[in-house]
Amino acid sequence: MSKTLKDKSALLIISGGIAAYKSLELIRLIKKSGGHIRCILTKGGEQFVTPLSVAALSEETVYTDLWSLKDETEMGHIRLSREADLIIVAPASANIIAQIVHGNAEDLATTTLLAADKPILIAPAMNHMMWNNPATQDNITALQARGIETIGPTEGDMACGEHGMGRMSEPEDIFAAINAFFFEKPLEGYKALVTSGPTLEPLDPVRFISNRSSGKQGHAIASALHKFGADVTLISGPVALPDPAGVNTIHVETAAEMLKACESALPANIAVCAAAVSDWAPTQNADHKIKKRGDETPPAIALKENPDILKTLASHKQRPQLVIGFAAETENLTENAAAKLARKNCDWLLANLVGQDDKKIFGEDQNHVYLITSSDTQDWRPMSKQAVATKLAEEITNHLEQPKVQDAAE
Ligand SMILES: Cc1cc2nc3c(=O)[nH]c(=O)nc-3n(C[C@H](O)[C@H](O)[C@H](O)COP(=O)(O)O)c2cc1C
Repeated sequence: MSKTLKDKSALLIISGGIAAYKSLELIRLIKKSGGHIRCILTKGGEQFVTPLSVAALSEETVYTDLWSLKDETEMGHIRLSREADLIIVAPASANIIAQIVHGNAEDLATTTLLAADKPILIAPAMNHMMWNNPATQDNITALQARGIETIGPTEGDMACGEHGMGRMSEPEDIFAAINAFFFEKPLEGYKALVTSGPTLEPLDPVRFISNRSSGKQGHAIASALHKFGADVTLISGPVALPDPAGVNTIHVETAAEMLKACESALPANIAVCAAAVSDWAPTQNADHKIKKRGDETPPAIALKENPDILKTLASHKQRPQLVIGFAAETENLTENAAAKLARKNCDWLLANLVGQDDKKIFGEDQNHVYLITSSDTQDWRPMSKQAVATKLAEEITNHLEQPKVQDAAE
């Protein structure tokens, strides 16, 4: 699979956010990969990076003004979008996101976006309160519903000294998303089934047993496989994430419901079981809230073992060609994961260490996984969950592209 951006053309809009300095690195990555890039700087963007740096790195004129007689006669806002294969807004400020949603066309960037006939990828970046504000959340949902792709934001320390969700994705991750966009769809024609999030096993109408899985990794994998062209069904436990654009998402609560939904999604070529399925469920789901009983001994919770979804899919009569599981281990990572690979009869395992203070994974944006197959163990080093997802989609593509032994003999 070629990863050069030679002959590809991008239009990058840099709006007014502190993360604008990271866009200089994005320009460098695109240029280094042979791509052609033109940039528009908003008035806000100009406060954070200079047109001179952008021009020097892109080796192109930088466009800033809708009313520039020279720029409009030489290039024009319509041609800026027509001559690009992809438009990227990075950083995308809360302001420009709102402007796009409302169809405003008050400066060169928003006018070009409104007139665009090209796919748009935005990388939001803002303070966590701005990001979590219902106005911004509604705007993002509206943009995604219109087919505008988003990457990030991620969680972390912010320039303002606060911590939260709102950091722009790293330039390498945005670059990976651009690459994924430009690839021909190598998984077109393949069906993929992905599970994500925790399961929730009820004790009574208000209480349940569950776990800390956020669903970020599973949802990122579903998105990456979709971007690679696969027809993806995502079966998700309860999570606080939006359904990934373009992915058929089925919402379930219990392990039993998840298994049933998985079996209904067969046949599939690829199964990625990223959900943290509860090992046990209460034997009884009480009809009414279990009350305190004064001095009486608290009720014991009797548990039964839940179905093993990974193992069931790996030994199913409609077994997917490639069955991939996750192993969250708290110790002896590679040994335990290799044993699990054999026990579950799956093809690959992505293993990570969880539970130690210095190795939090649940809910984080970074992941450090090992890819374990029957013949190999690869340390993928720490990277964002989106980058893990893209790398997995690439590995799956490479694996499915290899001729099978009997094909090669024919
Ligand atoms: C120091 C500073 C940092 C800012 N950082 C951000 C930011 O990261 N994200 C954001 O949405 N707005 C940020 N703003 C506010 C925007 O720059 C402001 O809303 C501006 O109108 C955006 O214009 P534009 O969307 O046309 O570029 C910041 C403002 C200042 C003064």
